[in-house]
Amino acid sequence: MKKTAKKITEFKKQGKKITALTAYDYSSAKYFDMAGVDIILVGDSLAQVALGYGSTTEVTLEEMLVFTKAVSRGVQNALVVADMPFMSYQISIEDAIKNAGRFIQAGAQAVKIEGASPYIIEIITRITQSGIPVMGHLGFTPQYINTIGGHYVSGKSVETTIELTAMARNLEKAGAFSVVLEMVPQESSKFITKKINIPTIGIGGGKFCDGQILVSDDILGKYDNFCPKFARQYSSLKDIIFNVAKAYCSDVEKGNFPSVAESFTLDNDEAQKLENYS
Ligand code: KIV
Repeated sequence: MKKTAKKITEFKKQGKKITALTAYDYSSAKYFDMAGVDIILVGDSLAQVALGYGSTTEVTLEEMLVFTKAVSRGVQNALVVADMPFMSYQISIEDAIKNAGRFIQAGAQAVKIEGASPYIIEIITRITQSGIPVMGHLGFTPQYINTIGGHYVSGKSVETTIELTAMARNLEKAGAFSVVLEMVPQESSKFITKKINIPTIGIGGGKFCDGQILVSDDILGKYDNFCPKFARQYSSLKDIIFNVAKAYCSDVEKGNFPSVAESFTLDNDEAQKLENYS
């Protein structure tokens, strides 16, 4: 049965741990969905892992929409959340609602927005009031890299944990159905998780979050430019892809590919006639 944003929020009360993964293409989304993943996020991390950009700030709205359509077509049960990219929601409330709507029209059931400044809270309020579920994102927020200045852990003191908790509460009040906590110490995530009614989804947020999310290319071992401390690598897809390509090149070069079974053939008479034709 198709999971909804409301259902995901209810999972917290039921004590069911929420599973989430990013996906960027039709086939991966289909297999993650078949495996029972609750939330599939079309993350703007696709900027680096699928498009080879240096940062998430480079990916455009139009690019994100193409990936959202592909992922949505592969998913039957999971909640599809699309990341609103940099500058697709910051310019004006009107623009933010219009762009959030484009993700829903592309097949997502919710959008994710980074930050919780008073302006962002106003934007999230207006988007949720327009009937579009919003997932918040606190802690390390990659779209703000140019103001933060680096990949830093957030909530490293009581004071900053209290600040993060206030932001999470504001997101809940704004109507967000869940909040991602990225790179937050596990004790701080535990505190925030207890203080709000919407689920916390950790990425480098420790085990006390209501759910976990990872970048699929990290768990598959496909993207090797950088692998964060908090990602568990379950496979080395990069080696599989490399070895398959090597074996294919070798077969072609040695004349071992294609075989007769992998080719179309004439029937014997036509083959003989063609042989004799000068
Ligand atoms: O873009 C992304 O992959 C994300 C996750 C890290 C939560 O925002």
